[in-house]
This record gives sequence, C-alpha cells and structure tokens, in this order.
Amino acid sequence: MSHQDVLVDVNGGIGVTRLNRPDSLNALNSVLLQELGIALEGLENHTAVKVVVLMSTSPKAFVAGADIQELLDLDPRSGQEFAERGQRLVLQMERMKKPVIAAVSGYALGGGLELALACDFIYASDRAQFGMPEVTLGTIPGFGGTQTLSRLIGPNRARELIFSGKMLSAGEALDWGIVNRVFPEQVVMDEVMKIAGSIAQNGDTAVAYAKEAILSGLTRNDEDGFRYESTLFSRLCATEDRRMRMQAFLDKRKPGVKARPGQ
Ligand code: COA
Repeated sequence: MSHQDVLVDVNGGIGVTRLNRPDSLNALNSVLLQELGIALEGLENHTAVKVVVLMSTSPKAFVAGADIQELLDLDPRSGQEFAERGQRLVLQMERMKKPVIAAVSGYALGGGLELALACDFIYASDRAQFGMPEVTLGTIPGFGGTQTLSRLIGPNRARELIFSGKMLSAGEALDWGIVNRVFPEQVVMDEVMKIAGSIAQNGDTAVAYAKEAILSGLTRNDEDGFRYESTLFSRLCATEDRRMRMQAFLDKRKPGVKARPGQ
C-alpha cells in the first residue's frame, strides 16, 4: 500500500485525522497541505462525523512547521502562493461547521502552531512545546499566525513569541491561553476523545451555529454580533432536534431515548 501523509478514522461520531510524515516531524509541504484540506472536506461532508480531532501519528511532533526544504526555493510569487495555500486551509478549518480539536504532543511550531490555532481549541500533552520560530529563518508566520495568535493571546505576548522565536512549554502555553488543558502524555488522547465524545452527543446544528456565532463575532462589533446570534438562535427554534432535546429534558429522560408509555 502506498504511504499516506494524512490518515483518517471515523468512530463513534469522531473523525480522527492523523498527520503522518514522521521522518520530517510532519513538516508542512504543499502535498501535505493539500491532503489535509481534502481529508477535512471529506469529514465535513461525512454525515456520521460530529467532531474532528487533528493529531500526529508521532508523539515527537504535532507539526514542526512549514517544510524548510520547500520554503528555501520560494520566490516572491511562489511564496505568495504558498502562504495563500496555507491560509486557505486555516480558513477552511476555522469555517468548518464541525468542531475541530487539536491534540498536541511534541512540537507545534510555526505552521504547526498556526494549524493548531485554526482548531477550535487545543488539548496538549505535558511534553508539548509551542513556538513561532520563523524569524530565526529570516521569514514570518504566513498561515495567518500573526493575526490568529495575537487575537488569541493579545498583541504583546504574540510579539514576544514571534520576535524571539523561543518555545513555550505546555505549562507556559496553558498560562498564556494558547491551550485549554494539559495532560500527562499517556492520557492526553483519552481526554481528547472524552471531550470530543461529549460534544458529539450534543445538537450538531446547535454546536455548528455556536461555532459560527463565536467566529463571526471576532470581527463584528457587539451590536452586529448580538444581532447575528439572535438570528441563529431563532433559526434553531425551527429544528426538530431542539424540540426533541427540550421535550426529553422536561420528560426527565435522555435525548434519543423514547418516552415510556403514559409519559
Ligand atoms: N522542515 C523540513 N524538515 C524538518 C522540519 C521542517 N520544518 N523540522 C524538522 N525537519 C526534519 C529535520 O531536517 C530532520 O530530517 P533528517 O532526519 O532528514 O535530518 C528530521 O525532521 C528530524 O528533525 P531534527 O532536527 O533532527 O530533530 P530534533 O529533535 O533534533 O529537533 C526541532 C526538533 C523541531 C527542534 C527541529 O527539527 C527544528 O528546529 N525544526 C524546524 C522548526 C522550525 O523552524 N519551524 C518553522 C519553519 S518556518
């Protein structure tokens, strides 16, 4: 069987996407970026999938950045195309209707951190390390990182990380608000699957609308953001799923479990 850079498994409503270029620590080349985009599109369209997990096949690295071999020969024109290819993938991930959780073990550097930031949140192993080392190579983050990192942690911390190129430990990344939770390496995947599983139980349209409202609110003022939230809230009032879940609560049963006769 031919080698694949991106492996996908679907189980229990969770689509697990594993980056599989361990020899180069999942360095992001054009092929890997394209394969990942196709894999995620497949999961977006897969009706059984409610939540997506993005991880690596190797505990050594989530992703050690864009592929420096490929970066070396870029000229201004191909550089623009390379950055835009990465940015399209980041936007695709941010705009997916399904939540995407990053499970980070090992290095999440440069484009790897940018991919993790494009996920809805990050759970990390206590051995994970985070950084934007691009300036050490005479370049800058090109997959949206100057924008997404400062939006998440504020411009001053983003400046410190990007200007210095230094790495943060998992604990520091937790403290800075880059990751939501840190777990010992042996249990991080169990914890990721637990949170993914609990999200998968919830109303999928409701989760999708919540994701959309939060993302769109990042670029709107409060008045516009509130208006958009009420539009989505109102749309959900027409869904059968909402009615079923609320009725189940009032009947003191789990959603999806039929009412007993007489209830
Ligand atoms: N692009 C291309 N290849 C990469 C890579 C990248 N971003 N990161 C790692 N690799 C390759 C290495 O060249 C090496 O290949 P080789 O075995 O053929 O020599 C292999 O992956 C293993 O990396 P290595 O450097 O030997 O591992 P290490 O444990 O000593 O160091 C890192 C790990 C992550 C600290 C180091 O690989 C590194 O600094 N990578 C670059 C990070 C970076 O600058 N990313 C931003 C790019 S814009």
